[in-house]
Amino acid sequence: MAVKFYQEQNQVPLEMHKVRMIQKLSLLPVEERLKKIQQAGNNTFLLQNRDIYLDMLTDSGVNAMSDLQMAASMRADDSYAGSETFIRVKEAVKEVFGTDYVLPAHQGRACENILSSALVKPGQTALMNFHFTTTKAHITRMGGTVEELVAEKGLKPQSNDPFKGDFDLKKLRATIKEKGAENIAFVRVEAGTNLIGGQPVSLENMLAVTDICHDNNIISVLDASLLQDNVYFMKTREARCKYMDLKSIYHLLADHFDIIYFSARKLGFAKGGIITSKDEKFTKMMVEYIPLYEGFLTYGGMDVRSMEAMAQGLYESLDMEYISQGPEFINYLAKELDDYGVPVILPAGGLGCHLNAGAFVPELPHDQYPAAAVAAALYIASGIRGMERGTLSEQRNPDGTEPFAELELMRLAVPRRVYTLSQLKYVADRVKWLWDNRELIGGLEWVEEPSVLRFFSGRLKEKGYWQEQLAEKFRQDFGESL
Ligand code: F0G
Repeated sequence: MAVKFYQEQNQVPLEMHKVRMIQKLSLLPVEERLKKIQQAGNNTFLLQNRDIYLDMLTDSGVNAMSDLQMAASMRADDSYAGSETFIRVKEAVKEVFGTDYVLPAHQGRACENILSSALVKPGQTALMNFHFTTTKAHITRMGGTVEELVAEKGLKPQSNDPFKGDFDLKKLRATIKEKGAENIAFVRVEAGTNLIGGQPVSLENMLAVTDICHDNNIISVLDASLLQDNVYFMKTREARCKYMDLKSIYHLLADHFDIIYFSARKLGFAKGGIITSKDEKFTKMMVEYIPLYEGFLTYGGMDVRSMEAMAQGLYESLDMEYISQGPEFINYLAKELDDYGVPVILPAGGLGCHLNAGAFVPELPHDQYPAAAVAAALYIASGIRGMERGTLSEQRNPDGTEPFAELELMRLAVPRRVYTLSQLKYVADRVKWLWDNRELIGGLEWVEEPSVLRFFSGRLKEKGYWQEQLAEKFRQDFGESL
């Protein structure tokens, strides 16, 4: 924490920005919240923003932009081909990563589509510390498979380990040997490993992975969507990074990875996606897919205003005062909840605070979707929208069986610079109430289950009438309060 408060017990993260534009929010009464979540098929993706008090579904594309990002978006140069805006994006990417070759795409999963289309052959495997939903869907769509090699510590909900996203290097070497390098499409390192709680990967581990890839002639890919938080953790938790400036960390990574891609809805606090490399050989493998799926090579499906905002956002990702706000707020929320005994993922990662739904409602089996049940229950209790990150977010196996998630997480994303500390206190308060009333939370069952990325649009219903009972208990405990 950069600023210390006088009274030891009053340490809170301090914002290094001020707010000059606001958006009104509304909080519905609990009886309405009950109706809305049921109308939404108990899927928080299907709630409407107007019915939500705090939207903690994601930090994707909803971070507050800076004044300079807003200003940059006004000078956008619109043209189908060869715009000045794309040159400015390339300059920003070069400044942050030191890379010369840049392919634009409309968002992160579009980069994954291109990467998988170009690099995955049927029967090949992509090795990674952990999968992300859209990444896996694109690789399997091409006839490939995904193998996860995160170190054992990554799946422990609570520990003191600062880098729970690290690869198990021994397993990586053994898997390459066992499968043969020619059967591996690429090795992908996901910075700020999303589905295990936004957990970072150490610089040392990332470089060791790229060395192994290099020795075996396998392409190394960095998913840098959550790299900003990851770099904050490198800087604050890893001895060798303490005296490095942020830019030299980003550059060192780009020196070692063959391909870097990211969702600019996250890195860059705007919209869009980028694939970049120091070596033209790699972008050449993918370039033909850009005009086919995305748009011309100088916009790739993005609008120029977003591209300008992204370019400015990338420069700002080199500023510690900007990048510290997310992790510090998340840590504050996780600590509040942990002190009360609520099971959260520790150490707190980036992206958001993750409730360990498996421990919140331990009696609920995976196929009653405990994390989705906690997400629905929290919406009823508070009007807060979180996101299921557990079994419901998995895809069924080709034989129709359901893989159970290693961790049943309910994510409360903290969009950067959007919510105040008193709003986070409200979050903590309502989660604590829910924890004290957790025996009321029951399971969910399918009403409509889509076959692809089912968590986005699937509909479920409560088993029994636990949601009505939860709303009644809220009324008893909170009286007239919203
Ligand atoms: N990689 C990671 C690590 C991500 O977190 C995301 C998106 C993507 C790729 C795909 O990017 O959304 O621009 O297509 N994560 C969002 C989330 C959706 O809510 O965690 P996208």
